[in-house]
Order: sequence, then C-alpha cells, then structure tokens
Amino acid sequence: MNHLRRTKNSSHLRELSDSSSLNSKKFIQPLFIVEGLKERESIGGMSGVFRESQSSTYKQIESDLKEGVNQFLLFTVPKKKSDTEFSGNFYHDAISGIKKEFPDIFLWLDTCLCSVTTHGHCGHLGSDGKIHNEKSVKRLSNLALLFAQSGADGIAPSDMMDGRVGSHRNILDSNGFYNVPIMSYSTKFKSNFYGPFRDAAESAPGFGDRSTYQLDVRDRESAIAASIRDEKEGADYLMLKPGMTSIDLVHPIKEKTNLPLGAYQVSGEYASIELLAANGFLKREEGLIETWNVFRRAGISFLISYAAREAKRLFS
Ligand code: PBG
Repeated sequence: MNHLRRTKNSSHLRELSDSSSLNSKKFIQPLFIVEGLKERESIGGMSGVFRESQSSTYKQIESDLKEGVNQFLLFTVPKKKSDTEFSGNFYHDAISGIKKEFPDIFLWLDTCLCSVTTHGHCGHLGSDGKIHNEKSVKRLSNLALLFAQSGADGIAPSDMMDGRVGSHRNILDSNGFYNVPIMSYSTKFKSNFYGPFRDAAESAPGFGDRSTYQLDVRDRESAIAASIRDEKEGADYLMLKPGMTSIDLVHPIKEKTNLPLGAYQVSGEYASIELLAANGFLKREEGLIETWNVFRRAGISFLISYAAREAKRLFS
C-alpha cells in the first residue's frame, strides 16, 4: 500500500492531509505516560500538562475528547533504562490499554530512544562514545514495530538518525502494518527550547548534546534536504520543529516536497507563553491565538501543541 492509499484510511488522517487553512481539527495533543507512576505529576513551566499514570491518562483523554481533541502524540517513559532491551509489558499495556478504552482516537507514538537509554541520547552509543547510526536505526525500528504490535495507529520518529523512516516503513510493511502511517519529525533542529520536555520525559542527555544527529539551526540547506529525504524514504507526513523558530522554512519545504507539512509548538515555546502570562506580561489565551495565527498564515497543515485541548474553544 502506498502513501496515497494509507492517508485516506481514516477521518483523522484525512483531516491532517487537508491543505486548507489550520483549524482546531488539525491539532494534536501530546501526552506523557510514565511507567509505575501512582499519581500524576506536574511539569515545571507547563501548567495543565502532566506526567500521567496509566489511569490518569484515561481521565485526561476522556476530558480531551470532550474538548474536541481526538488525535494524540504519546510519549512513553519507561522506569528501567536499558541500552539493549525494551520493557515490553509497559509499552504493550500502555498502548493497548488506551486503544481499548478509546478505540476511536488516533494515537501517534513518538519513536525515540532518549527516554529509554541510560545516557539519554536518542540512539545507540558505541564503545567509542559516539552515536552509531545503523545500530540506532535497527533498535528504533524494533521499537516502532513493538508500538505497532501494541496498537499504535501511527509512528512519529523523532530521533533524527539517517535512514530511520525507510527502515521503519520496511519493518512495518513486512509485518503487515501497511496501514500504519509515519509522521516524521523531518526537519528537527537541535534546540534550546526542549527543556521542559526533557524533564517530563526523563530524556536529557547525560553528557554532550545532540549536535551529531539533530540539525544545526544555521544550516538552511540541510534543514530542507532532511524533509526531502524523509519524503523519499516513505514518510506520510512531514514536520518542523521547533515550530515558531522554523517558520521561515514552511514555504521552501512545501515547494520542494509533496506531503502535508505540520509543525510542533514545542515545550519551551509553550512554556515561554505560560511564564510571560504568569508574570502578567501577556494574556495567555491571546498569546496562544497569536502564535496559532502565525502557523495558519505560514500555511502549515497541522499543529502539535500542548494547548491543543483549548483549540476548539479558542481557534475554530
Ligand atoms: C525526543 C523528543 C524531544 C521532543 C520531542 N521528541 C526532545 C529532544 O529531541 O531532545 C521535544 C518536544 C518538546 O520540547 O516539546 N527526541
């Protein structure tokens, strides 16, 4: 099955592929599910966003559905970190549990290793202290398959290794998951705006930074080439991240690719609005609406935002 068939398969995907202007139906809500958590925990800098337990995740989704959200991007945070294994039961129970409770939602799974590994990097660390691309891709594809087997509706690779989209498509197809689309974090920069997220996902690198695999913010040509590459490898959706600081790239990427292009208004971007509002420097909702209008003006097809659950009320 090819991209054109796969993306027609559900009303959720047809919404993301709609190339008319951004509206609340095209918002995706991130969620963090943490293994072994008893009570949900707040996240510094991001009011209204939590590290959820299994049961609090259900309550949150139930309330989000009432607010008109039906697409989610799930971040899984396992308790035991490992550089070789996956705690299979956690992923299976988390994902299949959610889909059993809420069969009608569309559940995207962020696919990365930074919450899994002992060192917090997004890939496999070799004995030479470097991230090994091929071994990383192999392990990431096994994780993508585990997600699909557990009931994930879509795979969202965020690691930025080379070749991961093609490898995920292969492993999904050869196991019969032709229908599972790939939303690639295709143009993803190394950024200072991921701070609150890393606290939430237990994913800060233990040493060094992500500059050998994430894009350099000064490198415009590679930023565009990365999205072109992911289209060629078989992605169904492309994405820019951080959204606001990449807004100049919407137009050139749309000119050179032929897939729906979304953006991720990341944790630091969201938290900056929260912090300004908390200090009386702006009105939170008006600040959010202003940024969403910028995404709409730029021509993106869908938006991942921590305030997705407010979009129907604020931004129809
Ligand atoms: C995992 C991942 C990150 C984000 C999404 N997936 C962090 C990172 O790359 O360090 C950031 C999201 C956000 O800040 O809201 N690789």
